[in-house]
Amino acid sequence: MNSLPIGIFDSGVGGLTVLRAVRQRLPRESVVYLGDTARVPYGTKSRATIERYAIEDAAFLVEKGVKMIVVACNTASAMARERLRQEFDVPFLTVLGPGARAAARTTRSGRIGVIATEATIGSGAYERAIHEACGERAVEVFSRACPLFVPLVEEGETDSQVARLLADQYLAPLREQQIDTLVLGCTHYPLLKTVIAETMGEGVTLIDSAEAVAEETAQLLEQHDQLIDQQAGDKQPSPSRFYVTDAAQRFHKIAERILGAPLEHLEAVEVFGHDKL
Ligand code: DGL
Repeated sequence: MNSLPIGIFDSGVGGLTVLRAVRQRLPRESVVYLGDTARVPYGTKSRATIERYAIEDAAFLVEKGVKMIVVACNTASAMARERLRQEFDVPFLTVLGPGARAAARTTRSGRIGVIATEATIGSGAYERAIHEACGERAVEVFSRACPLFVPLVEEGETDSQVARLLADQYLAPLREQQIDTLVLGCTHYPLLKTVIAETMGEGVTLIDSAEAVAEETAQLLEQHDQLIDQQAGDKQPSPSRFYVTDAAQRFHKIAERILGAPLEHLEAVEVFGHDKL
């Protein structure tokens, strides 16, 4: 059981920011990654559609024999978390909770910004999760949807003039609110971290939930007695496998840049019609 891989999915390349952190924290675990590149973006779609996509993605990973699933997509986490837990027996970790808890630990002023897709912001899930994580403490949450950030990242345009212009337009209202903490509530956004940090200026801490998710992945596996001992022996993990639903070559190029390493195995697949086993 322990030697089974961890499943990670996202609508596209964004979840690779989570995969990178999981690999760093748990180097002996192997990973199966699914990027639903045929249907990205999820963040502009309805709850019913996002739920259906998330269930098909999870069913695909379950068929690959994963021991747990990290939903490395805030949109799917916000819209489909309950359905996923109802439909499958495998343990799930969603990215939203770890990000909200990290923001609660970080803020000093209690003024927290959240940027995410339209669906995530519209669901109010981050606001709820942050208030829950802050408990009795009074905090204010300022939310902003940044829909064009996802296509920008999927195009590999992470450090361009267009990225700077967009960031300026999207983030200006949050600068005015004098937040001290900004949650990158979409797994694509850490790839724009440099531009976002420059635009927000000093005094604002950016929360990329990837590391917190990697830590909680380790805890969840430990709870289920499924964690591979990261120190023991010198057996190397099986290589990670990457699956996409379209445009494998384009994914290949961007993914290698994000991960800074060659992809061990990449295959184009169909997930449409996959359902609960
Ligand atoms: N990366 C995803 C998220 O964290 C989804 C982006 C999208 O497909 O719109 O929300």
